[in-house]
Amino acid sequence: MADLDGNKIEHNYHLEKAFACNGNFHVKGAANLDWGMKKHLSNIFSPKTGNTVMFAFDHGYFMGSVSGLERLDLLMPGLIDHIDVLMATRGALRTCVKPNFRKGVALRVSSGSSMIQEDLSEEVIAVDVEDAIRLGADALAVQVFIGAKGQLASIDNLSKVINAAYRYSIPVLGVVAVGKDMERTDKYFKLATRIIAELGANIVKTYYCDKFDEVVAACPVPIVMAGGKKLPEKEALELAFNAIAGGARGVDMGRNIFQTAHPAAMADAIGKIVHRKYTAKEAYEYYCEAIK
Ligand code: R5P
Repeated sequence: MADLDGNKIEHNYHLEKAFACNGNFHVKGAANLDWGMKKHLSNIFSPKTGNTVMFAFDHGYFMGSVSGLERLDLLMPGLIDHIDVLMATRGALRTCVKPNFRKGVALRVSSGSSMIQEDLSEEVIAVDVEDAIRLGADALAVQVFIGAKGQLASIDNLSKVINAAYRYSIPVLGVVAVGKDMERTDKYFKLATRIIAELGANIVKTYYCDKFDEVVAACPVPIVMAGGKKLPEKEALELAFNAIAGGARGVDMGRNIFQTAHPAAMADAIGKIVHRKYTAKEAYEYYCEAIK
């Protein structure tokens, strides 16, 4: 392990230069992966735009029936055509989502906490890779708690899932967790995203922050922005726009879609930013028109 005291302080992220190892594949850091990995990644990131709109509705794994997700069986049929990837638990998929869709699946495979606990950082691997294969998962999602009590356990979870997933050519999505006391700064996100990528994850989900473009540049796999708490629609679209402008290859939004009065229109508006280069203003105008 390097001597921390000897670290040079200034960084150069070469923001003006594109990622240099993409080869002829559209997903960052995936040029040297095999056919099966690339197929799964193409189910997540559009080969046309390189980007993705994920819909996160896995909240129930530690929050129970969150407002807006009380009846997944009623929500999903109207929404599924408006997103690219379902980020979900296996319980939600098997019980409430008909399997006749052509979308990607990011399957949550770590869990172990509930919102009535003070510390949420200690998780286990809850889903075998074989069950993920049975579900046709295109990515396995693991929560990672850098700097928290559960850091070691979560890095162990991530590493075990990556080792299993590589045996079957399934990508892994590392999710940067932020606890109540954890900072949401570029310094923290640069640390967490890079650790997750270096451990072998193929996609990293993290929150937006100042200097987000530097977080993206320093991470050798695609970053998908996590949505976070419900914002007014205009602000949520600005957040999505800023993330894509900063180099994110997609957004994974939950509450900012399912807690709006018009989830499908909101997902469409986000898709205009992610895939069609709409500005936040254009996307908001599109949303307002769509809900008239
Ligand atoms: C992440 O830890 C959760 O499992 C959700 O996937 C995530 O919080 C995204 O949902 P939201 O946009 O509501 O924060």
